[in-house]
Amino acid sequence: MAIPVIIDTDPGIDDAIALALACASPEIDLLGVTTVGGNTGIENTTGNALRLLHLFGRDDVPVGAGAARALTFEADLGDPSIHGQGGLGGVELPLPERGADPRGALGLLVDLVESHPDPVTLVAIGPLTNVALFAATRPDLYGRLERLVIMGGGVHITGNHTPTAEFNIWFDPEAAARVFAAGVDVTMVGLDVTHKAMFAGTDWAPLRTPDSGAVAKAVTGMVDFYGSFYLSQNGSDATAQHDSLADAEVIAPDLVLTPHFWTGVETAGTLTRGMTVADLTGVWKREPNSHVALDVDVPAFIDLLVGRIAELDARLH
Ligand code: RIB
Ligand code: CA
Repeated sequence: MAIPVIIDTDPGIDDAIALALACASPEIDLLGVTTVGGNTGIENTTGNALRLLHLFGRDDVPVGAGAARALTFEADLGDPSIHGQGGLGGVELPLPERGADPRGALGLLVDLVESHPDPVTLVAIGPLTNVALFAATRPDLYGRLERLVIMGGGVHITGNHTPTAEFNIWFDPEAAARVFAAGVDVTMVGLDVTHKAMFAGTDWAPLRTPDSGAVAKAVTGMVDFYGSFYLSQNGSDATAQHDSLADAEVIAPDLVLTPHFWTGVETAGTLTRGMTVADLTGVWKREPNSHVALDVDVPAFIDLLVGRIAELDARLH
C-alpha cells in the first residue's frame, strides 16, 4: 500500500532530484507539494516545483506556495553558486499551463491532511516555516500526521551554512524549534548521513546513455552544475543528495539507522543559532521526540536513487 506523502520543498537542485525520486517510486502516493523560500525565492521555488512535476508527468499533483521568509529574522536566501540563479542550475524547463493551487501551502496542507482517510507523512526538505505555521494554525490536524521526515540538522556533523548550523534549520531556527516541540515525532535526516552518502560524478552514468531522455538530461544537467560547486569547494565533484535521502527513508526505512533521542534547536546562541542539539545519552531525561539518522547504507541509497530516476526516464521518454 503506497504511503500518502506531502513534500514541502525549496527547489533547489537536490530538492528537484528528491521530487524525481518521489515521482519515480510506487511506495509513495504524492498527494501534494508545498513550497517555501530558502535555496532561492518563493517565486522560483514555486515555479520550479510546477516545472519539475510537469517534467515528471505529474501535473495532477497540486502545488501550494508558502512562506517567502522566516518567522522571525530576515535570513539571506541560498547562494546562487550552489543552485544557480533560478534554482535549477541553469537547466531550462517549460512552465506548465496550470499554476499554483489557490489554497496556498497552508490551505493545501490542511485540506489534504483533513480529507485523507489515512495518516499522511509530511516530508520537509527546506526551511521549516510552512511546517511550523501548519502546527501552530491547526494543531488538531498536525497531530494527525503519521510522522514528519525532515532533511535538516546534524549531530556529529553540525553545520554546512555555519560551523554549527545546517542550512534548512539555520534559515528559520524558530520554526524548527517549534516543529521539534510540536508533539509529532521528527525523523531527522541530517548532515551525518547526507555527507556520508556522497555521489561521485560516475554514479550518474546510467542517466548519461545515448537513450537517456528529458528527465535524465535535466537531472544530469543539474548534477553537473551542483558538482561544479562542490568541486570549487572540496576539490571533488562528488555531491551530497541531501533531500533525496529524506525521501529514501520513507521509501526504504532500513536504509538509515535512526535511534530515538530528544532533540532541540538553539535559537539564541551567538555562535550556535540554528544548531540541532540531540541528547545522545539522555542526560536531560526528556521524552525522546525524534529519530535521528546516524548511519546509512550508501551503495543501496545510490542504487535506489539513480535506478529509480533511470526507470522514470525510460517510462516517460
Ligand atoms: O543543507 C542542505 C539543505 O539545504 C537541502 O535541503 C538543500 O536543498 C538546502 O535547502
Ligand atoms: Ca532543500
